[in-house]
Amino acid sequence: MMTNETSKMKIVVIGGSGLIGSKVVTKLRAQGHQAVAASPSSGVNTLTGEGLAEVMVGASVVVDVSNSPSFEETPATEFFTTSNRNLLNSEAAAGVKHHVALSVVGTEDLARMGGVGGYFRAKLVQQNLIKESSIPYSIVQATQFFEFVKDIASSATDGDKVRPATALIQPMAADDVATAVAQVATGSPLNSIVEIAGPEQFRFEELIRLYLRARNDSREIIADPKGTYFGAEITERTLVPREEAILGRIKFAEWLKAAQQATIAAKP
Ligand SMILES: NC(=O)c1ccc[n+]([C@@H]2O[C@H](COP(=O)([O-])OP(=O)(O)OC[C@H]3O[C@@H](n4cnc5c(N)ncnc54)[C@H](OP(=O)(O)O)[C@@H]3O)[C@@H](O)[C@H]2O)c1
Repeated sequence: MMTNETSKMKIVVIGGSGLIGSKVVTKLRAQGHQAVAASPSSGVNTLTGEGLAEVMVGASVVVDVSNSPSFEETPATEFFTTSNRNLLNSEAAAGVKHHVALSVVGTEDLARMGGVGGYFRAKLVQQNLIKESSIPYSIVQATQFFEFVKDIASSATDGDKVRPATALIQPMAADDVATAVAQVATGSPLNSIVEIAGPEQFRFEELIRLYLRARNDSREIIADPKGTYFGAEITERTLVPREEAILGRIKFAEWLKAAQQATIAAKP
């Protein structure tokens, strides 16, 4: 039997218990890699440094898909600054060869806006610390996850009406995000940003309508040219990727159907 042991690596997944992290760990293990899920719930805390030196021993690649517990600018900046300094220092000490981080399409533009723009200024600090470090890196910028559409609708809700911005959005399934992150993690460092996105583009209004209809939610939707994205004054294309983006395969309707079936199956 032919084996390919040399290509099997120890890959530490920071935020390995999260939505994307748990899927990345499963996908890397399925490919035969030694994927280690690392987060506070398993004794690894990038903010305090707890467990970092130990988990890095023998690691070739680190994937950071952790997130700040708060989206407010000050705590998010504190989270991404301190945790990235600790993480990159411990990777350098352990001889890690590739740092992969997950960020968001449009971060540079969103960082100049109000509202949730503060969170994106914190993500920009993260991206800059990675670029300035000595570790070869790949930054994967993803569009909004399908799993996040519920929160997008809630944030645009005003009483019994939803007033989304008139902008474009090209969301993707968390499963497709994880596939792309795992693929980047097992490849050579890009030393640049790569964008990933869903296979279809929508107007916010259209996307929210599909979501609410599938949930039998009767909120009225009124597209608002002055509508914001969590308080950020986005333009038509702030959230959509460039032409060279890698596209996922899972369509929103397909994901909605699977999510509905999972909900029905989970009912007692
Ligand atoms: N939401 C979107 O639509 C979207 C779009 C593009 C990119 N992103 C990016 O995707 C990334 C991951 O998002 P997600 O939704 O998968 O996150 P998530 O489900 O909220 O998971 C967050 C993870 O971070 C870990 N974590 C929190 N504090 C930590 C610390 N001090 N040290 C180490 N790990 C810590 C958590 O560990 P415990 O479980 O142990 O607490 C958890 O595993 C984020 O960086 C976000 O910016 C999100």
